[in-house]
Amino acid sequence: MLKKLAINGGTPVRTKLFPAYNTIGEEEKRAVMKVLDSGNLSQYLGAWTHDFLGGPTVRAFEENWSKAFGVKYAITVNSNTSGLFTAIGAIGIQPGDEVIVSPYSMSASAIAPLVYGGIPVFADIHPGTFCMDPVSIEARITPRTKAILVVHIFGHPADMDSIMSIAKKHNLFVIEDCAQAPMGKYKGKYVGSIGDLGVFSLNYHKHIHTGEGGVITTNNSSLADRCQMIRNHAENVTGPRELTDLTNLIGYNYRMTEMECAIGIEQLKKLPSLLERRLENVDFFNEKFSSFPAFETLPKLADGSVNTYYVYPVKFNKEIAGIERNKFVDALKAEIPSAVLRETAPLLGAGYVKPLYLQPIYQQKAAWAFNPALYNGDVSYEKGICPVTETMHFEILFTHEYMRPGMTISDMTDVVKAIEKIFENINELK
Ligand SMILES: Cc1ncc(COP(=O)(O)O)c(C=O)c1O
Repeated sequence: MLKKLAINGGTPVRTKLFPAYNTIGEEEKRAVMKVLDSGNLSQYLGAWTHDFLGGPTVRAFEENWSKAFGVKYAITVNSNTSGLFTAIGAIGIQPGDEVIVSPYSMSASAIAPLVYGGIPVFADIHPGTFCMDPVSIEARITPRTKAILVVHIFGHPADMDSIMSIAKKHNLFVIEDCAQAPMGKYKGKYVGSIGDLGVFSLNYHKHIHTGEGGVITTNNSSLADRCQMIRNHAENVTGPRELTDLTNLIGYNYRMTEMECAIGIEQLKKLPSLLERRLENVDFFNEKFSSFPAFETLPKLADGSVNTYYVYPVKFNKEIAGIERNKFVDALKAEIPSAVLRETAPLLGAGYVKPLYLQPIYQQKAAWAFNPALYNGDVSYEKGICPVTETMHFEILFTHEYMRPGMTISDMTDVVKAIEKIFENINELK
């Protein structure tokens, strides 16, 4: 008998590539040309003058961002990664300090403490949100803990009420990694406005982008000042300003250019409608996926909270399906394109990223911060320390990005048809 599934040699549901996600238009082009015509591509000076805080477009973008996100200060940086480094520096992390981080995130979310000699301590995720579980956070606290670095992973807001109350109880700083959650909300508040500092990404995979870039948000004037110094050659200004506390006030050059901020201004205007379209597509998939008994999608959040769905996570029940998750994902990849031409980043994946503590840097404790002369704690990076993360990643979760704006109903219907075809012919995979 002829096999039907593409993975077994049958005809795929679709071979035509899906549309690329491209948010750059005439507005961005005009804005960049205006900056180019002015000849002023960056006005920063690494000295205590008016231009220490950058040129007019940098400042305008920061002002627009702080208004849009309901925070007092927005500080642009050249990536979320440099923003996280800056935030960790600003809160005064020192060798020997521990920072509680998520193992289920892009690597930068966990690596930031190491730059200042701090030790990342991994807390497990909650199976319902994929964000850090407050119960696991609390279990990881030691006398060395100084901060919690929360990630609103996939765009889902973390349980900020519980996390803020743990932080208050133990006198810890909270940094929110909002790379995947721009305009995400938790109980009516924008993420990035709840902890001490928020950090956003403007890299080209994100909802809106400037090629590369990032924004730090805070309501704390002293932290904002420290971030501005770390961004731009702090050591040159601490003297003229006669500052006495020089902790971590070594400066980098993490500055964005006028052109990037000009693009950012236009992109920020588009964010609400881009998010709305993305969430309409999410509704489409939520409705269609509810008819697949082996799928569990995220429940709708209470009013006032917004999941920005950077990626769309699905929990796959192998008992109901009768096959392993990986087999299902491989079969789906054979039925429809699983990447967009100009991107190497896949649109579909089994799990997300391998639990970060399994990376060689942690397995080998290959950073100066682990020197026993500096750190006397007993952090563990052994397999098994975060069982929920491991089960989600290696067995249960798959993620897709077929809900990005630009996908038409017909494109998304092809995705659903491919899944229907797999379930109708599941015996071929057993
Ligand atoms: C959760 C998270 N944190 C940090 C980063 C790093 O962002 P950037 O590329 O802007 O440095 C990313 C990027 O993918 C991310 O998704």
